[in-house]
Amino acid sequence: MLKDEDRIFTNLYGMNDRSLRGAQARGHWDGTADILQKGRDWIIQEMKDSGLRGRGGAGFPTGLKWSFMPKESDGRPSYLVVNADESEPATCKDREIMRHDPHTLVEGCLIASFAMGAHAAYIYIRGEFIREREALQAAIDEAYDAGLIGRNAAGSGWNFDLYLSHGAGAYICGEETALLESLEGKKGMPRMKPPFPAGAGLYGCPTTVNNVESIAVVPTILRRGADWFASFGRPNNSGTKLFALTGHVNTPCVFEDEMSLPVRELIEKHGGGVRGGWDNLKAIIPGGASCPVLSKEALEGAIMDFDWMRDNHSSLGTGCMIVMDNDTDVIKAVWRLSKFFKHESCGQCTPCREGTGWMMRVMDRLVTGDAEVEEIDMLLDVTKQVEGHTICALGDAAAWPIQGLIRHFRDEIEERIKHKRTGRGASVLAAQ
Ligand SMILES: Cc1cc2nc3c(=O)[nH]c(=O)nc-3n(C[C@H](O)[C@H](O)[C@H](O)COP(=O)(O)O)c2cc1C
Ligand code: SF4
Repeated sequence: MLKDEDRIFTNLYGMNDRSLRGAQARGHWDGTADILQKGRDWIIQEMKDSGLRGRGGAGFPTGLKWSFMPKESDGRPSYLVVNADESEPATCKDREIMRHDPHTLVEGCLIASFAMGAHAAYIYIRGEFIREREALQAAIDEAYDAGLIGRNAAGSGWNFDLYLSHGAGAYICGEETALLESLEGKKGMPRMKPPFPAGAGLYGCPTTVNNVESIAVVPTILRRGADWFASFGRPNNSGTKLFALTGHVNTPCVFEDEMSLPVRELIEKHGGGVRGGWDNLKAIIPGGASCPVLSKEALEGAIMDFDWMRDNHSSLGTGCMIVMDNDTDVIKAVWRLSKFFKHESCGQCTPCREGTGWMMRVMDRLVTGDAEVEEIDMLLDVTKQVEGHTICALGDAAAWPIQGLIRHFRDEIEERIKHKRTGRGASVLAAQ
């Protein structure tokens, strides 16, 4: 269990003062100029040594990402862009930072921007986050008024401006290059990579896009040291992390804990256990809708980190878990996700535009059992044709939950098809 003194987010539940004064009383904005004085290389090396991996879902090492930014400007400005879109279903952690502990993010923006040679940063916030936007804007205004950002930010000699820009609620605008398009005032459609944003990002200038949590943890890591952060979790999975539990747990919540803790411990300690007890658990989706579902049987010895999840055919994603008990129609649950991805596809590339609709229509029939057993493998085959063949990872995100469903619940799908044929289990199907 994480000790209170090791928490980065000390106002996650909004019980304390979120204003600058309250944030400073909790240790934020302490010695910021001293950190900047240590220089860009020192900051980037500390971030590398801390082992922080991006908290937006893909888990790319943060310090390494920063090191891709040009050391010397070729005349173009560099930018930091913070991804505050948080549209992944079940993911609800960044909003708690923005509405209750916004100064962690504002201070993080200054330090990260300095480390990348950026004099300006943009936070792109999901359109629906109205209260979060108000809280964050208030924190930005306070920081300007106190001289912590703006000209000679925090007395460091570095000039820094921070802008808050809000989207209109499209899931695809969370994808980093679609986000940049949207920020430029265009339709949110992902760009082909390369070029990667560090070479040509916002307005064609070197840009790094990072998740809210990845940036908000930076000041505390630098104040307490890379070794401190790296002491939590397994190697390559280090740090503390915001997790969330939704669905069939007794106490759904967002909380900070160490990486690599057992999944069962997280659910029982923080979520008050599965509704009806651990034996009533059917499946989990570890970190947002795009992660492959895992059955209870697959959770033997499961720990919550990037490598365990990858080695067991799933993904840590955002660390915001959906818990499903035995009352869940897991086929229908995954069908609902398929419907979501079909709706959110930007339509730019054929495998995703056509494939998401195709997959959803087969899923429609698997829910009712109006299908042939052979179609299960055909569906699996379609997911493989979509996966890895699209411009952005939305195609993968649409394919993975279905692959997880077939991997763990093929029997249940087949049974439903057979029941439909024989008329047995009609009462179960009538309830679908
Ligand atoms: C369809 C799609 C939606 C995404 N939505 C988000 C999001 O809402 N927030 C986020 O931080 N990253 C999101 N990502 C991941 C971003 O593209 C990017 O990897 C991330 O912002 C990088 O930050 P990090 O390195 O700090 O994790 C999404 C990716 C895809 C493909
Ligand atoms: S994978 Fe889907 S969402 Fe991504 S660019 Fe292609 S069509 Fe658009």
